[in-house]
Amino acid sequence: MTSEIRFLMCSPDHYDVDYVINPWMEGNIHKSSRDRAVEQWQKLHHVLKDHTLVDLVQPQIGWPDMVFTANAGLVLGNTVVLSRFFHKERQGEEPFFKQWFESKGYTVHELPKDLPFEGAGDALLDREGRWLWAGYGFRSELDSHPYLAKWLDIEVVSLRLMDERFYHLDTCFCPLNGGYLLYYPPAFDSYSNRLIEMRVPQEKRIVIAEADAVNFACNAVNIDSVVVMNQASDNLKARLTAAGFEVIETPLTEFLKAGGAAKCLTLRVTEPVRTEVHANVSVESRTLRLEGHLLDSGLINRALDLVVENGGSFQVLKFELGEQRQSTSSAEVKVSAPDHEVMEGILAQLIDLGAVHLPQDERDAKLEPVTQAGVSPDDFYVSTIYPTEVRINGEWIKVLWQRMDGAIAITQTPQGVTARCKLLRDLEVGEQVVVDVQGIRTVRKPEAREQRNTQEFSFMSAGVSSERRVELVVEQVAWELRKIRDQGGKVVVTAGPVVIHTGGGEHLARLIRQGYVQALLAGNAIAVHDIEQNLMGTSLGVDMQRGVAVRGGHRHHLKVINTIRRYGSIAKAVEQGVIKSGVMYECVRNGVPFSLAGSIRDDGPLPDTQMDLIKAQQEYAQLLAGADMILMLSSMLHSIGVGNMTPAGVKMVCVDINPAVVTKLSDRGSVESVGVVTDVGLFLSLLLQQLDKLTSPYHLAQIS
Ligand code: ARG
Repeated sequence: MTSEIRFLMCSPDHYDVDYVINPWMEGNIHKSSRDRAVEQWQKLHHVLKDHTLVDLVQPQIGWPDMVFTANAGLVLGNTVVLSRFFHKERQGEEPFFKQWFESKGYTVHELPKDLPFEGAGDALLDREGRWLWAGYGFRSELDSHPYLAKWLDIEVVSLRLMDERFYHLDTCFCPLNGGYLLYYPPAFDSYSNRLIEMRVPQEKRIVIAEADAVNFACNAVNIDSVVVMNQASDNLKARLTAAGFEVIETPLTEFLKAGGAAKCLTLRVTEPVRTEVHANVSVESRTLRLEGHLLDSGLINRALDLVVENGGSFQVLKFELGEQRQSTSSAEVKVSAPDHEVMEGILAQLIDLGAVHLPQDERDAKLEPVTQAGVSPDDFYVSTIYPTEVRINGEWIKVLWQRMDGAIAITQTPQGVTARCKLLRDLEVGEQVVVDVQGIRTVRKPEAREQRNTQEFSFMSAGVSSERRVELVVEQVAWELRKIRDQGGKVVVTAGPVVIHTGGGEHLARLIRQGYVQALLAGNAIAVHDIEQNLMGTSLGVDMQRGVAVRGGHRHHLKVINTIRRYGSIAKAVEQGVIKSGVMYECVRNGVPFSLAGSIRDDGPLPDTQMDLIKAQQEYAQLLAGADMILMLSSMLHSIGVGNMTPAGVKMVCVDINPAVVTKLSDRGSVESVGVVTDVGLFLSLLLQQLDKLTSPYHLAQIS
């Protein structure tokens, strides 16, 4: 019975570690002993011969890794898919293995050039023959998997390798008889682990520890109930024995220095075909086009990295390089993913970067109806800050109310089709929602290289300024504020109480008075402390002139709240002459609308504070509509909230003493945002000085 099983081996006559193509080879060049290698190989040969038949392929000078016959190709029945080695160091082995297979009468399939696949090192049959497990990530390309499915007429399950020590699937994964699986889960991404767990029931999974994994315990040869490996811990042996296996250890330390052990040194060349299983592969691929300053702006790197980081793979089919500094480049990239779900995740992000499908690949957006108000169908496309278009009935339609983290709701009436970004809670029955990722594109303006090079002087660059750059940013902001005011534009300020504590209140008040601010978005606290300062001279009980705490001052803000509550609103308190100066005073006096959004920690609150957060979000969104610039002054919560509601194209300046807040906001990828890490009081004081300069005749004289 066992005599029908045959293996292929290659004696180590020319074996050595001559180069480094995996982490095990590092530091091991010419460090393996030939004699010991021969002895170890012969022992393995013996063990195998005790249980099966072993064929030999002639070793070749100059191809030291040929001993690792697992990488010759992948056999199923009478068919072989020949390896295409990833590294040129091993590519010379291909013709010798091909010759051997042909001489034995196998039908040999060869993959297209430049499509690496390393044979049974990266493709392992389920021992019941139900499907093929195929690895990718280091040596074999995901795009080779559909070929395996086609040529071998079997289902292929793609697994992504994540740890470079386990660069071949057979270094960390070993299907065993009876449906058992010996494997090292950390070598795989979580998606692959999920796939494995779905296919192999828990009681059949023999998970090994790192200590066994680095001894290549998964690189085992399984013949019926025998498992041959380099070495196993007592614990692992006990578990294998309990599962009905007999473990044979045979030392292969000399081969470990090249990153291989028992399984690598063998190739099972008799693999029975199960006639009832057929080709099936979930690998998907799509071709996309990217345009812009792909190289200068790093866009192409970002796009390709994102594909790989998310478990996909790519091939650049075309690249047209823009030759002039101002000319853009374009690329066509074929993206592959192990299945549709992963593909969707990747495509959604590529679309956000501005990638589009080729015209011949364009399809209408997929729509699904809202069946429950305030709840989207699953799998909805999540909107971004970038102008977006969706394709409906063959036409591209601009999405209205652009904002991030919404769904795209479609209403079709005889008058036409409307697409809008809507929050999930606002979805209505009767609307349809865009799901999946087809028929969606975002319009991104190319980030020009000049703009990046002059980052410090330009608004159009996402950059976080350090202290010494504060003044430069102040100059820009002042210039923009002037321009927007003169053109009748709209500046919205979000501000936290720190503005008052740091002495910035008077400056912000002056900005409002001078017409630079068209709306204020804040919370309860800034209003309370602003009024406290103007009524009692303290901010949170600290004397703002002398900077010391006033006795009993910690109660001041409660008294202020009480006073305003008595008058009914901030505006009424201003009208009654109770509040005579400050930020809130200027808002009321100058007709600048404000919205105070409440929170759990609010004292009072002031009668003006909106404690219904859904209403507060709506008020914010209304006041933000049409903004040209948003000044975010030391308020993490309100600023992030505002950032989420704002489409790309609105200039955002975020000032905070905490670099994390600044980074968070300028990280939204919008080129128009700029961050400044500094004291907000200081920033405002510099800003007003600069605005004064811009309007003083002395300054004008200097320019002319
Ligand atoms: N030095 C060889 C390589 O890096 C080792 C191959 C091990 N083979 C295997 N099936 N894991 O390619």
